[in-house]
Amino acid sequence: MLRYSCINTDIKIIGEENGLNLEEEFNNYSAKIADIIRGLNQRKDKPGEWLQWMNLGYNEETVWYVKEFASLVEGRFDNILVLGIGGSTLGGLAVTEAVLKPYWNLLTKEQRNNYPRIFFLDNIDPDSINGILEILDLKKTLVNVITKSGDTAETMSQFMVIKDLMEKTLGDDYRKNIIATTDKKMGILRQLADQEGYKIFYVPDDIGGRFSVFSSIGLVPFALVGLDIEKIINGIKDIDLELKNTDIHQNIAAQGALIHYLMDTKKGKNITVLMPYSSRLKYIPDWYVQLIAESLGKAYNRDGEKVNTGLTPVKAVGASDQHTKLQLLNEGPNDKLTTFIRVGEFDSTINIPKIFEYTGIGYLGGNTLNNLMDAEADSTRVSLADYQRPSITITIDRIDEYHIAQLLYMLEVQTAITGELYNINTFDQPGVEQVKNYVYALMGRAGFEGSANSLQEKMTTV
Ligand code: PA5
Repeated sequence: MLRYSCINTDIKIIGEENGLNLEEEFNNYSAKIADIIRGLNQRKDKPGEWLQWMNLGYNEETVWYVKEFASLVEGRFDNILVLGIGGSTLGGLAVTEAVLKPYWNLLTKEQRNNYPRIFFLDNIDPDSINGILEILDLKKTLVNVITKSGDTAETMSQFMVIKDLMEKTLGDDYRKNIIATTDKKMGILRQLADQEGYKIFYVPDDIGGRFSVFSSIGLVPFALVGLDIEKIINGIKDIDLELKNTDIHQNIAAQGALIHYLMDTKKGKNITVLMPYSSRLKYIPDWYVQLIAESLGKAYNRDGEKVNTGLTPVKAVGASDQHTKLQLLNEGPNDKLTTFIRVGEFDSTINIPKIFEYTGIGYLGGNTLNNLMDAEADSTRVSLADYQRPSITITIDRIDEYHIAQLLYMLEVQTAITGELYNINTFDQPGVEQVKNYVYALMGRAGFEGSANSLQEKMTTV
C-alpha cells in the first residue's frame, strides 16, 4: 500500500498565507468529493466518458492473452523495440525503468534471465533512430508499434522506416517480428496489421493515451521483458478499492486532488513538482507531466466558459535535483506544490566505507547510501517547510510491479478528481489534435489541403 502524508500543506506547518486548513477544507468539500467519486464510478462504463482505464485492474482476459503471447515468443528475441509517442510510450518507459534491474540494456543475457533488452523510440529524431539501428540486429528484434488512433504521423513514420528495413533484412519473415497495439475498429494501423498479418493487441475503447499504461499498451512490453503483469493488475485492484471510498478522510487520491486544486485557486500555487528520491523512478515524472498537462490544461470548462485552467507539471529527481532546482523551490516564487516519492526499502544496501577518517568527509564513513538518501529527502522536506513551501510525501514500500502500479494508478485517479473539481473535461486534448492536424497538412496528407494553404500563409507571418 502507499503511505501518504499531506501535513506539510497545512497551516499548522507552513502558516496561514501559504497553507490550507486541511481539517476545515476536507469537511467543506466532503460532500462534493463524495459526489465526484460516486459520479466517476457511475459513469465509468458509459461509452464516450473515457473512463475505461478505471476498469483495467479487472482485465484478466487481456492479462491471460498477453501472457500467453509472451510465453510463445520467450527466448526468440534479443530486443524489443517499442515505436510510439506520448501516452503510447511514456508509461512503458516509466514502469520498465523502475521495475527492471537498473541498466537493463547493458546487462548480459544471463543477467537478464534471458529476457530481451527494451528500447522505446519515442521521437522521430533521425540521429537517434540511426543510432538505434546501428545497435539492433533486426533479425533478433521484436517491434511493437503502438498507436491508439492508428495514424499518428510520428509513430507511423517511425514504423514505415523500420518496417522497410525489416523487410529488406528478413525477407517475408519480417511479419513475425512485428506486433501492433491499436484500436479495435479504427485507424490505418489496424487495417495494415490485418492486411500484413501482424499479431494485434487491442486498446479498449474509451481510454486516452495518458491513462493507458495498464492496457495492452503497457502490458505487452512489460510481459515481453519478464515483468509480472499479474502483480501489476493486483496492485491496481487493491488500491482501486481504497480509491472508491467516498470519504475524503480515507481517500488519498481525493486528498491530493483537493489540495492541488485549492493550492492553485486559493494560494496561487499552480506548479506541481513531482520529485522521486530514486533514480529508478526518474521517468515517472515524465509520465506525470503528460498526465497533468494534457488532462488539466484546458481552455473551456464543462459549461462552455473560457477558463484556461492548468497546473504546470515539473520534473525533479532527488537527490540530484537538490543541486539544480532546490534553490528555486526554496527561494523562488512560492507558486509550487511539491510531491515527494520515497522508497521504503531499496533492493540494495551500500555501506560507505570508513576511510578518509582524518578528513572532512570522514563523517560519511560507516553510514549507508540508503540512510544518506533518507537524510537528503528528509532535509529537503523540512527545508521546504522552513521556507513555508507546501509538500506532500508518498512512500512506496519497495520498487516492484505491485507498488509502482499502485502509485501510477493513484496519480491517475487524483488527476481525474482534480479535473472534476475544475469542472473541465479531463480526457480530451483539443490542443494536441490541432497540432496533429497541422502536421498532416504540412506533410501533404489528403483531406488537409485547405488547412495546408492557410497554414503556409500563416507561417510567413507567425
Ligand atoms: O494522451 C494522449 O492521448 C496523447 O498523448 C497520445 O498518447 C499521443 O498523441 C499518441 O497518440 P496515439 O496513441 O493515437 O498514436
